[in-house]
Amino acid sequence: MKDFISLHDISEKELEDLLSLAIKLKKELKSGIAHPILKGKTLGMIFTKSSTRTRISFEVGMTQLGGYPLFLSSNDIQLGRGETIYDTAKVMERYLDGIMIRTFAHQDVLDLAKHADIPIINALTDLLHPCQVLADLLTAYEHKGHLENLKLAYIGDGNNMAHSLMYGAAKARMHCSIATPSGYTCDDEVVENAKKDFAASGKSLVLTNDPVEAIKNADVVYTDTWVSMGMETEKEERIKAFDGYQVNAELMKHAAPDAVFMHCLPAYRGFEVTEEVIDGPQSVIFDEAENRLHAQKAVLATLMG
Ligand code: CP
Ligand code: NVA
Repeated sequence: MKDFISLHDISEKELEDLLSLAIKLKKELKSGIAHPILKGKTLGMIFTKSSTRTRISFEVGMTQLGGYPLFLSSNDIQLGRGETIYDTAKVMERYLDGIMIRTFAHQDVLDLAKHADIPIINALTDLLHPCQVLADLLTAYEHKGHLENLKLAYIGDGNNMAHSLMYGAAKARMHCSIATPSGYTCDDEVVENAKKDFAASGKSLVLTNDPVEAIKNADVVYTDTWVSMGMETEKEERIKAFDGYQVNAELMKHAAPDAVFMHCLPAYRGFEVTEEVIDGPQSVIFDEAENRLHAQKAVLATLMG
């Protein structure tokens, strides 16, 4: 594993190893055991979109691993003024030990990985958000004691979260159901790739327009914003299109009684989820947010250690 760009690219074993390492690092941190695995190493962190969790968890994670996180806002580096990805990759590999990037076009991350000899970590593109899903799998594991054969249901936009959840669920040997309104379904190529992964694991993948069908007996219920970063101008039309796709107490009745509710955050209460559900006893949203730290430290230690 040179890069961490898509959960479709990693094996079941690699996923298992990352989760085991995350659990170990989390235990060590809680017991006050230092783990300076990346002493003297520097991670460049390129952001062309906003972030709370990703930025903080990567910065704190690098610090806890004994390394140095270098925040690079696209407004401040020449990439934002049109310097090519190729030149950026070739220059940055001379200084840095790894790069984490959050940006719009997924192809930019693939190009960066192609041209830079150092590890590249995808911290969200319009297509995928693998770091979030790694943390979510860790969270589901902690709450359920295992992952294999759990049913994950995602209700909402066929976006980067839906895509990475499909990939992650397949590699974790879970079942997965996705309910999206028509016109907001998942990317065709991602679905084709995911279908192959589910065929290999022997678990089910259901894509539907019916939230009740998707959520039926689910162990993990997931939703995300209807208006992702970069889609702000579509807000009004999206709110109309997603009518009926809100995760509320009525919909949650169809899930398993002990289901957990998840959301990558930031959340918009009253839209994709009600306050009652997201702030209710089944919600594990802040465990997910914390686990970004532990999961990403496992990625950093594996790629840069
Ligand atoms: N979930 C997530 O990636 O949050 P941020 O946008 O705050 O980083
Ligand atoms: N789908 C959301 C996820 C935010 C973490 C977005 O891309 O804005």
